[in-house]
Amino acid sequence: MKIGQALLESNIFLAPMAGVTDLPFRLICKDLGCGMVYTEMVSSRGLYYGDLKTEDLLHIEDKEKPVAIQIFGSEPDIMAKAAYSLNDRENLILDINMGCPTPKIVKNGDGSALMKNPNLAGEIVKRVVEESIKPVTVKIRKGWDDNSVNAVEMAKILEANGATAIAVHGRTREQYYSGKADWDIIKKVKEAVKIPVIGNGDVFSVEDAIRLFDYSGCDGIMIGRGAQGNPWIFERINHYLNTGKVLPEATLQQHIDVALKHMRLVVEIKGEYVGIREMRKHIAWYMKGFKNSAQLRNAVNHIDSCQLMEATLLDYLHKLP
Ligand SMILES: Cc1cc2nc3c(=O)[nH]c(=O)nc-3n(C[C@H](O)[C@H](O)[C@H](O)COP(=O)(O)O)c2cc1C
Repeated sequence: MKIGQALLESNIFLAPMAGVTDLPFRLICKDLGCGMVYTEMVSSRGLYYGDLKTEDLLHIEDKEKPVAIQIFGSEPDIMAKAAYSLNDRENLILDINMGCPTPKIVKNGDGSALMKNPNLAGEIVKRVVEESIKPVTVKIRKGWDDNSVNAVEMAKILEANGATAIAVHGRTREQYYSGKADWDIIKKVKEAVKIPVIGNGDVFSVEDAIRLFDYSGCDGIMIGRGAQGNPWIFERINHYLNTGKVLPEATLQQHIDVALKHMRLVVEIKGEYVGIREMRKHIAWYMKGFKNSAQLRNAVNHIDSCQLMEATLLDYLHKLP
């Protein structure tokens, strides 16, 4: 898939997820064939006012490239200045968040609140495109609620204002993450615009990815929750697309090996205290579905050292019949 001038090796991407898609997890996904990783969303106001916390979110390493930095905000000037301030970063793409449903974001008119204001959304894209030297993409939802489904109208406006690609999450803001993602809306957006469309929502397996491609005709797929504890999903989808054959699921040993590798990366970057606490949720995801995983999760939630985490996981592995 081509975004702007860049030809991507794989069109299966890691969706932006605040609190999840930090550098360590992005490195893990990239290593397993992810075609492009997205940062956690970064506040345009934070960038504009030089907030130190946003700096951590922006750190990019060569090994994870290509990377999309995602920004959010709803003031065209501040978004434009934020975009300009990112011109010397090593991201391939600058993505704008128009999908985040959380009240904290929406109450400021940011994220999915922009679905209610397509003209402002268009103005933001126009200004960001003027100031950014990177291709600008946008991630939208189906609409604000069932009575205002407008992804097609939004996509046309964003395209007309210079967006290079559009990612569509097939849920309304009111749905948050519940119910089923509507892939029809992805198909309708794909039929309505010329720029590449990235389908998103409820891809948890190779089969889901193939169905979404076939059903909607989308150019790429973005995977969020389906990659949590399961970064192999990228190589398995790529393998199927390249060979027509389905690779076996990752084994328990592979889950534990990658969970430990992930833990070491997190601890190296964030230190043991923060790192282990952040890893607890990832380890629960890695171990989900394996025997006695609920008990293991309880144990993991009380662990606060690398050494004990490793010993606990290896003990679990060796004690299983
Ligand atoms: C924990 C979490 C954090 C998220 N953070 C962001 C975000 O920062 N920016 C964004 O555009 N979407 C965010 N999303 C939405 C995902 O990118 C994606 O659109 C959604 O999870 C649907 O895809 P999925 O069914 O593959 O998970 C988040 C989702 C989750 C579960």
